[in-house]
Amino acid sequence: MTAVQAIENPDQVLQRAKTENLISPRFYTTDYAAMDRLDVSSLRAEWDAMLAEYEGDNNHDHFTRDEDAFRAEVRTLSPELHKEFLDFLVTSITSEFSGCVLYNEIRKKVDNPDIKQLMTYLTRDESRHANFINHSLRDYGLGVDLQALKSSKAYTYFKPKYIFYATYLSEKIGYARYITIYRQLEKHPELRFHPIFRWFERWCNDEFRHGESFALIMRANPHLLQGGNVLWIRFFLLAVYATMFVRDHTRPMLHRAMGLEPDDFDYRVFDITTEISKQVFPVSLDTDAPAFRRGLAALVEARTRFDAGAARGGVVGRLQQAGAALSGAWHFVKLYLHPVKKHALPAQIRVAPVW
Ligand SMILES: [Fe+2]
Ligand SMILES: [Fe+2]
Repeated sequence: MTAVQAIENPDQVLQRAKTENLISPRFYTTDYAAMDRLDVSSLRAEWDAMLAEYEGDNNHDHFTRDEDAFRAEVRTLSPELHKEFLDFLVTSITSEFSGCVLYNEIRKKVDNPDIKQLMTYLTRDESRHANFINHSLRDYGLGVDLQALKSSKAYTYFKPKYIFYATYLSEKIGYARYITIYRQLEKHPELRFHPIFRWFERWCNDEFRHGESFALIMRANPHLLQGGNVLWIRFFLLAVYATMFVRDHTRPMLHRAMGLEPDDFDYRVFDITTEISKQVFPVSLDTDAPAFRRGLAALVEARTRFDAGAARGGVVGRLQQAGAALSGAWHFVKLYLHPVKKHALPAQIRVAPVW
């Protein structure tokens, strides 16, 4: 059964995008002076090659649509699927715009030419992505006022290293999600219930390249990948994987409509992300281990009981929520302590988007 709230008017879209909970996309601020001091000169050749790819902008003509042809492809969906698809669009635009806002703030506040240049390109790409999703929301009369979202959503402060771990992973997992959906619908075009999925292949190459940029920043500053920081890497790997797993299981119809079971989809996405992340992280999560999988299922279960408690309300509902939150925290700690796989970092840093 779907657990997402119905979204019926633009105010509800804004409220949904502003929602702050453990699995909702967040907006971030950081230490801009520390960003300004970043040094990538030890990887000058790789860095310049990457910036040249951004400069070439192979997607400059991609995020446009033939209005009539696009709208003609939009199907009428069952109420449940419609609800989950809107939730998907709103969380996706919030994530895209979160990147846009953060990258643009860094761009404005640093003088370091390497970082400023990179952030200019990242802002350009994420702004295209957010606006493209907004077109689809507007087709339903549900466009998001992005400026209102920017000024009214809560911001979370992250040290630069946390920004690198979290954004690297969200860019790469974003790639893995979009390419998995794209490949599935390439095989089963009859299941493509909305035209936006046709854009995902070139779209996810942007996300892939964004991830490459953070990989180079971290590899140029190897202390970020050693010692006590490895514990932070484990934490962010688990936080990003678990958030996606729980969020996807709140909207199972969306995946089933594409012929994908949420479990299969998520584990395929984890496999791709884990394979890519060996370019930078010396550890990866053992997502095939039965105990690990049971832990993720328990997080979904805790989330479901938490939401049921919220719906019930009153003292009993709040007790149910508290019990579910404790259970969720306990399973998260157990997952964190589950043994990880260790890897040596490869000499060749860049990876190609070949999935
Ligand atoms: Fe994006
Ligand atoms: Fe991105």
